[in-house]
Amino acid sequence: MEIKVQPLHQRNIDDVLRLQKTAYAANFLEDADSFLAKIAASPSTSFGAWRGDAMVGYLIALSLMTNEGLDLNTSNVPTVPIREARVMYIHDIAVNPEARGLGVADHLLQRLEEAVRGSAISLWHLVSVQGSQGFWEKRGFEVSSDPLPNGYGPEAVLMLRR
Ligand SMILES: CC(C)(COP(=O)(O)OP(=O)(O)OC[C@H]1O[C@@H](n2cnc3c(N)ncnc32)[C@H](O)[C@@H]1OP(=O)(O)O)[C@@H](O)C(=O)NCCC(=O)NCCS
Repeated sequence: MEIKVQPLHQRNIDDVLRLQKTAYAANFLEDADSFLAKIAASPSTSFGAWRGDAMVGYLIALSLMTNEGLDLNTSNVPTVPIREARVMYIHDIAVNPEARGLGVADHLLQRLEEAVRGSAISLWHLVSVQGSQGFWEKRGFEVSSDPLPNGYGPEAVLMLRR
């Protein structure tokens, strides 16, 4: 069945929380307030993916001025409008285990690429967790030795793409 990608809204919060639980270990779970703040702060850079009526994936990305990153589970979200931003921070991408390997993550990332096109953003960054480093390397990201935001634990890896 076709995958449809659309902007994410605060009204999708229940689906986001349900998907988060299927995709992350307990120590990475963020609360509803933290998601609601990030979704509100990123109207043009966060997306959901639907297969029929079911949300099967989401991507939350934030346009920032600097590469300071966000602590896990924070509602303090220092975004700037995308036309003023220099940095794209991919905060979270998750796909339901039953829909993995179908290109859902790449559909979501493609929409983000389209949103960034034409902006002054010259640096992308993210915190890779749960062994996803290889996934990001295939998509052009490299490991960075810059300090990680708080809360991600010893196995997390900061990754950049210029
Ligand atoms: C990572 C994730 C979003 C990928 O979603 P997906 O929709 O299955 O990805 P796609 O179908 O677009 O791409 C799949 C490709 O990525 C590869 N891939 C997926 N997870 C990977 C991993 N952990 N390490 C290396 N490669 C990985 C697949 O092997 C496949 O490769 P191929 O295209 O060469 O066959 C999904 O596995 C997920 O939700 N994981 C749990 C949440 C998570 O850890 N997110 C990353 C946080 S930084």
